[in-house]
Amino acid sequence: MTNINTDKLSSARFAQATDAFVEVFTASVDFDKRMAAQDIQGSIAHATMLCACGILTEAERDAIMGGLTHIGAEIANGTFVWSVKQEDVHMNIEARLTDMIGLAGKKLHTGRSRNDQVATDIRLYLRDEIAHITAELARLQAAILDLAEQHADTIMPGFTHLQVAQPITFGHHLMAWFEMLSRDRERLQDCCKRLNVMPLGAAALAGTSYPIDRHMTASLLGFSRPSANSLDSVSDRDFAIEFAAAGSLIMMHLSRFSEELVLWASAQFDFIDIPDAFCTGSSIMPQKKNPDVPELVRGKSGRVTGHLVSLLMLMKSQPLAYNKDNQEDKEPLFDTADTLINCLRAFADMVPHLVAKKANMYQSAKRGFATATDLADYLVRKGMAFRDAHEVVGLAVRLGLATNRDLSELSLAELQSFSDLIDADVFGFLTLEGSVASRQHIGGTAPETVKKAIAAARTQWQAAP
Ligand code: ARG
Repeated sequence: MTNINTDKLSSARFAQATDAFVEVFTASVDFDKRMAAQDIQGSIAHATMLCACGILTEAERDAIMGGLTHIGAEIANGTFVWSVKQEDVHMNIEARLTDMIGLAGKKLHTGRSRNDQVATDIRLYLRDEIAHITAELARLQAAILDLAEQHADTIMPGFTHLQVAQPITFGHHLMAWFEMLSRDRERLQDCCKRLNVMPLGAAALAGTSYPIDRHMTASLLGFSRPSANSLDSVSDRDFAIEFAAAGSLIMMHLSRFSEELVLWASAQFDFIDIPDAFCTGSSIMPQKKNPDVPELVRGKSGRVTGHLVSLLMLMKSQPLAYNKDNQEDKEPLFDTADTLINCLRAFADMVPHLVAKKANMYQSAKRGFATATDLADYLVRKGMAFRDAHEVVGLAVRLGLATNRDLSELSLAELQSFSDLIDADVFGFLTLEGSVASRQHIGGTAPETVKKAIAAARTQWQAAP
């Protein structure tokens, strides 16, 4: 018995001390201590339930609760001493509890295992993070709504293939971003439904022989119900994968948003000004003002998708039930949550200060013959087949290009030389204002329609969970 390492988990089983490198290699405390608050929350609920079921005495329960509360305070004020010898957050807290309160501390683990404990902690942790991410998402959406309201009738070119296509309003463009983020928010709520199910009671994999009350623990922890199968409870991390997938979509959307801001802030587009507080200079080129925030967010979208793929690969082919592989779920999850919160925060802070350069947006729509489709539609309404109208407009655009004028700047006689169906009323359709105002159906870019869309979105935003 002399070789027994008394620091080691289940030490009685082992005749050899753990290899020093293996001890560090297998430990997770350096990162999973982030879930300490959730671990304590779970343990308090577990002890409360054990006592209600007659498995712990009230004195034991009270000692455990007092000890855990004290440990929570030590962790919060930085005096708690973490040790890799105790491997993970769960064992560190339990060991300290036993140091403090003795025998009762050793009874806390009755009827549970670290396998259902960790599965519970991650769910509690992600639930908290999702609430935080949702709040930042909602803040960004509110900023977009306000900006869209200011620019419901600010005309800019709409693009396809990054070529000027048709005039739209900046408010309409902003509301496209709002819609993407609304779906992102829904996805997070949906992910929460499946995540908010309680694994405790599954113990190592097969459940426990103690007369526990899983409904009580679930309700104490705010879970919607106890999980239905003990093997599944301790092994699957599909909820974490769903979270990373929802996160990847958010970052994908932010990367598109970022890309447009970067383009628009360039001298070539010159559509917006990103305030100095969100940009940095160059160490060598004194004239530079770089759009660092959107560039960095665009870059960070890659790492979140990387985490999604890591988690999928981590889970792939794992036999039931718990495997140590699952310890690898934490770092990608933590980084996903941090990245989302930071990127959304930076955007929510920056968007209210974006300045639209209205005159530049307007000129750019004009230079790109953005109302060419409106002229074709006009001819169709006068009886011409669309393909023929397409040809006529092509000729008019050619003249505009050759003489450096927009369609609305050609004379009536010039326009009539391409088709005698054209009358003086054509100019009502060739202006950018006329073009956007005519798109009044649901989802269209007419300023009045955009204002209605913003009002409806505001109501939806207020009601969203
Ligand atoms: N640190 C472990 C994890 O993150 C806790 C569960 C360990 N369970 C076990 N039987 N080794 O998954």
